[in-house]
Amino acid sequence: MSDSSPLANLDSQRDELIRQINEISDFAVLREQEPLLVGKRSLLTTLQRTLGQIAENERKEAGALLQGARRLVEDRFNERFAELEMVERAAKLEADRLDLGDVVVSAVRVPVTVGHPNLVASTQRELEDVFVGMGFSVADGPEVESDWYNFEALNIPPAHPARGMWDTFYVDLGEPETVVLRTHTSPTQIHLMEAAVKLGDPRVHAVMPGRCFRRDTPDARHLAAFHQIEGLVVDRGITFADLAGVIETFTRAYFGPTISSRLRPAFFPFTEPSAEFEITCTICQGDGCRTCSQTGWIELGGCGMLDPAVLEAVGIDGSEWSGFAFGFGIDRCAQMRHQIADMRALIENDARFLRQFS
Ligand code: PHE
Repeated sequence: MSDSSPLANLDSQRDELIRQINEISDFAVLREQEPLLVGKRSLLTTLQRTLGQIAENERKEAGALLQGARRLVEDRFNERFAELEMVERAAKLEADRLDLGDVVVSAVRVPVTVGHPNLVASTQRELEDVFVGMGFSVADGPEVESDWYNFEALNIPPAHPARGMWDTFYVDLGEPETVVLRTHTSPTQIHLMEAAVKLGDPRVHAVMPGRCFRRDTPDARHLAAFHQIEGLVVDRGITFADLAGVIETFTRAYFGPTISSRLRPAFFPFTEPSAEFEITCTICQGDGCRTCSQTGWIELGGCGMLDPAVLEAVGIDGSEWSGFAFGFGIDRCAQMRHQIADMRALIENDARFLRQFS
């Protein structure tokens, strides 16, 4: 082919087109350039139109050359088109996936909050742990009791003035004032001693946690539905010194060495002698505050040596066996341990309060 032929530079023109195609890395650009690279406005189409100028004897060969070049360019273009289209689709999928991710994070997925045990429940477990560590077992009792278990067997006969110590909720099941919501966990002592006697061995070393009810007006230190943990030891030769030792050991184990306990003479119909069990107020460290009514001490519960009348009620021989009992508030322990000024916070379910203990 002569140098003056319009196809004289065909090879380098073809290579240049292929180079241009290779250089394009954006699918949109490739599509935009399509008419210039392989379409109607392309150099190859222009050259096609010049074939007429070529001498007739050379035209056929020139046409074949041009066809060959066009096929190469078009093949490369189509390959590149498929490659970039794939890249483009993958990018679009990726972008869509991220969009979806954004939606999930910001609009659909609510923040996950993990539940945790209620503060009273976890306090109960911690108290059980301390007493189990001291050799006690853990027992349960009913929340609804007959008058006999809640009062009579505990040496509080009907119409006894001591009943005024417990403002009682009665359950209306026919005969009035015979079924009660237990006002303390002490009736569980009776169940345990009865069961032990039945098994022929009156010895008991147990704590009994549970919910109790009193017609109290809730305030900073009282709830109408609250929790106690009762302790009971029945064995040979048990003395008040054993009781005092258990109370002191428990106080130090649970509240730590900076909190002390004290026993003050008190009266309970089912223990003799009886004592009130108090600890240093942890809200004011003993200085006096609203929570402890300016006394520096918080009453946790009561305790004492088992009254002979109680041993007799369950059929235990008081000349051979003796024992002590104690009972105190679990909610009160939680309050003192975590320095909660007002006990009502325990039942208000204010998430801002609860979150402090999660
Ligand atoms: N049951 C008593 C109360 O709730 C506490 C107590 C238990 C006292 C055991 C003595 C012995 O007030």
